[in-house]
Amino acid sequence: SAAAAATAPRVNPNAPTEETVLSVEHYTDRLFRFRLTRPRSFRFRTGEFVMIGLPREDGKPILRAYSIASPAWDDELEFYSIKVPDGPLTSRLQAIQPGDKVLLGKKPTGTLVLDALTPGKRLYMFSTGTGFAPFASLVRDPETYERYDEVIVTHTCRDEDELAYSTNLIRAIAEDPLVGEMAAGKLRLYTSCTRTPHPNMGRITTLIETGKLFADLGVPKLNPETDRAMICGSMEMIQDVKGLMIAHGLTEGSNAAPAEFVIEKAFAG
Ligand code: A2P
Repeated sequence: SAAAAATAPRVNPNAPTEETVLSVEHYTDRLFRFRLTRPRSFRFRTGEFVMIGLPREDGKPILRAYSIASPAWDDELEFYSIKVPDGPLTSRLQAIQPGDKVLLGKKPTGTLVLDALTPGKRLYMFSTGTGFAPFASLVRDPETYERYDEVIVTHTCRDEDELAYSTNLIRAIAEDPLVGEMAAGKLRLYTSCTRTPHPNMGRITTLIETGKLFADLGVPKLNPETDRAMICGSMEMIQDVKGLMIAHGLTEGSNAAPAEFVIEKAFAG
């Protein structure tokens, strides 16, 4: 009846679910990672992002897009985040402890996915800062190694401490029972710093332009016949690296029209 319908509770099928914080690890005063429970029904493609957030006193949750840093086969969900002292979400999110609740959106999406690229020989993943997050997922996915002979991840940060997450994660892949063997001999991490001395000092754009990146890796310069790229960092970084890809003859792809490189903004800020 109309009366019964009016009193039935309204359930929004798209409302975020409440997940439990399983672990939190702080790397620097600007960076941390956390792991959440993953609902059985939560499906995503490796490299995608989803809305993450916290409830607010006024009842309206505060949500921001976050790349999922764990692979699709993992029982848990991992996220890598910046801490912004006055950031509406990250100022509070940085204080979470195991057992706390975090909101998880229901609709993961994104373009840093293997299906948005045409087949190739060598896959580059160019990242700065928290832009490494989607690549943390992709380097732990067996499909990455089924599709490419070589996987080169670059991570550039202001200083060495900010490289801890990527460096530890890539090192641990050698021991990973699922992808360790597949990644051996294929996966390489190239790190650089811009504000403190480092053997590879400089922005990734400079390292590409001068050719130092390719010389250090012992690979030919970028070639649309063989090379594919994924780019994730600040808006400016994406635009600049994208310009270099186009200058080398690579074409931007999407889910609807796969091509030679794809881009995504590193969200959390
Ligand atoms: P820089 O120190 O020269 O600004 P952030 O922590 O601010 O997000 O920056 C992460 C890294 O991205 C820093 O090493 C920074 O270099 C670098 N970066 C910033 N803008 C660009 C850009 N337009 N192209 C390439 N790298 C950039």
